[in-house]
Amino acid sequence: MNYSVYLTKVVPEEGMEILKQVSDNIEVNQDNHTLTKEEIIKVAETHDALMVHYVDVVDEEVLERAKNVKVIATYAVGTDNIDLETATRLGIPIGNTPGVLSDATSEMAWALLFGIARRIVEADNYVRDGRFKFWYPMLMAGVNIVGKTLGIVGAGKIGTAMALKSRGFNMKILYTDIRPSEVLERELSARRVSLDELLKSSDFVSLHVPLLPETNNIISEQKLALMKPGSYLINTARGQVVDEQALITALKEKRIAGAALDVHPNEPGVNPGFFELSNVVLSPHIASGTIETKRDMAIMAAEIIVAGLKGEVPPNLVNTDVLKTENYRKRMERK
Ligand code: GLV
Repeated sequence: MNYSVYLTKVVPEEGMEILKQVSDNIEVNQDNHTLTKEEIIKVAETHDALMVHYVDVVDEEVLERAKNVKVIATYAVGTDNIDLETATRLGIPIGNTPGVLSDATSEMAWALLFGIARRIVEADNYVRDGRFKFWYPMLMAGVNIVGKTLGIVGAGKIGTAMALKSRGFNMKILYTDIRPSEVLERELSARRVSLDELLKSSDFVSLHVPLLPETNNIISEQKLALMKPGSYLINTARGQVVDEQALITALKEKRIAGAALDVHPNEPGVNPGFFELSNVVLSPHIASGTIETKRDMAIMAAEIIVAGLKGEVPPNLVNTDVLKTENYRKRMERK
């Protein structure tokens, strides 16, 4: 078996080792630049398997040209960058990497929560800028976390991991989800409430929904207006979930106390309106970015590709209906 595999980014060696079992024709976008549309189309046309990332737009045009592609692994849990419906129609299986990143992502959400609540970035800048000339009781005073209400918007794997990590802080947990979470209700006596109630009652709101048409802009101007005065918003989900212009206004007017944002609607662009605000912590979409998790994601994504190239059902297949299609059968038969 010597299929050609294309990786749109450099990934940890452990993943490469697995891929080498099925291919000695592996090409990697070594400088990690985001591929242009033309570049993605070209690699889709000329390879048997692709490993992509959330930044790669795998739309109908790309998929239509991926005539020989037997499998696409996305090194991510979110699949909003991929036209799953078209992939299914064309018989292309898509696998993702859920689960392995839930701890890292929720740890980052906690890091951001602490960062904004205790003004860590502001305090660091204060010291570096030489402004720490004398101490006084209210210097860089933040807020307590213990005993507060944490609102989890989206109680999937990451939202659940986030909520469970509140143990030790004796927090009241509210959550929204399309279905009840037995684990959160049993372990934390969490309450499933409407988004409006969650926003009105939470001191910290942490977003963990996938980007879908229904979640696009769910934290709208009107919803931001419902947030409790003095509360904080943490976003490690997708930038498009929040109306960022409305958020900038709410932060400027100090209607909420702060926001910590790992994700942004137009990455790598970040709205410069945030740069003038000290009550914001910003990071470059690195919530799953730990050495251990990046390794595990590489292994998982590689295993998807290996299975797909062998004609087996890939682990973590997202578009499961693909298996029923005639196009899938035909693709798998192609050598
Ligand atoms: C990253 O954003 C992911 O979806 O895994």
